[in-house]
Amino acid sequence: MTENKALHPTTIIIFGATGDLAKRKLFPAFYNLYIDGRMPKGFNIVALGRADNTNEYFKNYIKENLENFSRKKITSEDWAGFQAHITYFQHQLDEESSYKNLHQKLKELDTVYGTRGNRLFYLSIGPNFVSTISNHIKNTSLASDPKRDRIIIEKPFGHDKQSAIELNGLLAETFEEEQIYRIDHYLGKETVQNILAFRFGNSIFEPLWDHKYIESVQITVAEEVGVETRGSFYEQTGALRDMIQNHLLQILCMVAMEPPASLESGEIRDRKVDVLKSIRRISEDQVDHYAVRGQYGKGVVNGVQAKAYRQEEGIAEDSNTETFAAVKFYLDNERWQDVPFYVRTGKKMKEKHSYITIQFKPLPHSTFSESSQQLSANRLIINIQPLMDIRLQFMAKKPGLSLVLKPVEMIFDNFACQEDTPEAYETLLLDALLGDLTLFMRSDQVEEAWDVVKTIQEAWQDGKASFPNYEAGGWGPQESIALVERQGHSWV
Ligand SMILES: NC(=O)c1ccc[n+]([C@@H]2O[C@H](COP(=O)([O-])OP(=O)(O)OC[C@H]3O[C@@H](n4cnc5c(N)ncnc54)[C@H](OP(=O)(O)O)[C@@H]3O)[C@@H](O)[C@H]2O)c1
Repeated sequence: MTENKALHPTTIIIFGATGDLAKRKLFPAFYNLYIDGRMPKGFNIVALGRADNTNEYFKNYIKENLENFSRKKITSEDWAGFQAHITYFQHQLDEESSYKNLHQKLKELDTVYGTRGNRLFYLSIGPNFVSTISNHIKNTSLASDPKRDRIIIEKPFGHDKQSAIELNGLLAETFEEEQIYRIDHYLGKETVQNILAFRFGNSIFEPLWDHKYIESVQITVAEEVGVETRGSFYEQTGALRDMIQNHLLQILCMVAMEPPASLESGEIRDRKVDVLKSIRRISEDQVDHYAVRGQYGKGVVNGVQAKAYRQEEGIAEDSNTETFAAVKFYLDNERWQDVPFYVRTGKKMKEKHSYITIQFKPLPHSTFSESSQQLSANRLIINIQPLMDIRLQFMAKKPGLSLVLKPVEMIFDNFACQEDTPEAYETLLLDALLGDLTLFMRSDQVEEAWDVVKTIQEAWQDGKASFPNYEAGGWGPQESIALVERQGHSWV
């Protein structure tokens, strides 16, 4: 987020460089930053993997994947420049000698690329390896300079509050908090960042932004895809941990936070933690009243027959894992008292669509009541993906001789302003290179977010659900409709 910080020469060390995330997101992001002239003058990407690959083989593999996943077209000139900054290095995660060899290699590369020992470690690897890698980095002094070395950790960060606390403690043995970048790629999305600009860069919205004018807030992240090849990972995770504990709660924080005094990362992160702390904690016997879980059965998604979750590869026949979760949160603070925040997410839903709806209260008295017209209350919709726009819905007069009203929309379309929008990972990697922590999660943010979902997590672990309970290609289980209807609301 900070434009005026300097990019220092850096070696980027990717653990898990042969994996899915690296090929689909990380290398394309670095490539696009390189083309845009946003990489440091001196940089080198050291790609770590277990296989005995040659540099040439690995670079060809990256090039093939860039053809599929890069935002910008690959030209031979750009590729020739970029590939010169990649070094493949064979490495075993659990062997100390491998880290010592890596240390030696990094020193050699520093002289070639002028990277002066600045290191950015990217752990693009399963969460169970984080402690091993962190310990080895400490033991071999790979990250010895708290001012110049940084580490990026992928989600999931722990699997519950206790494990997150333990992981934070372990990382703290090697890294200062300011060196740790816990990534939540939703925070890098253009439309999510725009929430701050929209709320705090205008004078007309913020005065309406509270319980006096807003009736409810909804956040939906619906996916068309199922678990694809990640069945065994998802089986241990579920929608609550995979999406709500991180992405949806972070979006909620952006919508609900108090105005920060400045754009300093500490200030913004403090305001987000305030929101998480204010979310009402519920007891285990209230879980069914506040939360709904679901798992998809077979159905049709986008005209294509879809298997039930329990028929997917790596999934138990009697799986108790939720592929859908909806939760009603209340924030116990002055601004948001009694305003429900409904969040929901699911796999194999009717369509891929992530959006936020701010539902304003209806008019206290309608001047138009005699004409028996239904007036829709104002609504603000922030589309995150695939649409990327902000829509304000209001009533206007229908052109003509009679005074008839109709709902209309005013739209700000991100695409119309800039078709070629940077991917979230580009934004976040650039921020990490610049040393800007604003869009990354601080240790207390992660722990509070786990605390918010703790009781739901425990109740769902202990209680067996009657799954499957929604058809693939729908909008989730019936109970999620009841969750909002109890308050006289409905999902948008
Ligand atoms: N993929 C995504 O879309 C996505 C999205 C959000 C977050 N994430 C997170 O990003 C991280 C990486 O995800 P990913 O999908 O890229 O993972 P992945 O493809 O399953 O694995 C990454 C790399 O880990 C190494 N590896 C796997 N098992 C290993 C083992 N037993 N011992 C040593 N190395 C092993 C492999 O490298 P070598 O065989 O070359 O050593 C593999 O290429 C995870 O924490 C994931 O939760 C991923």
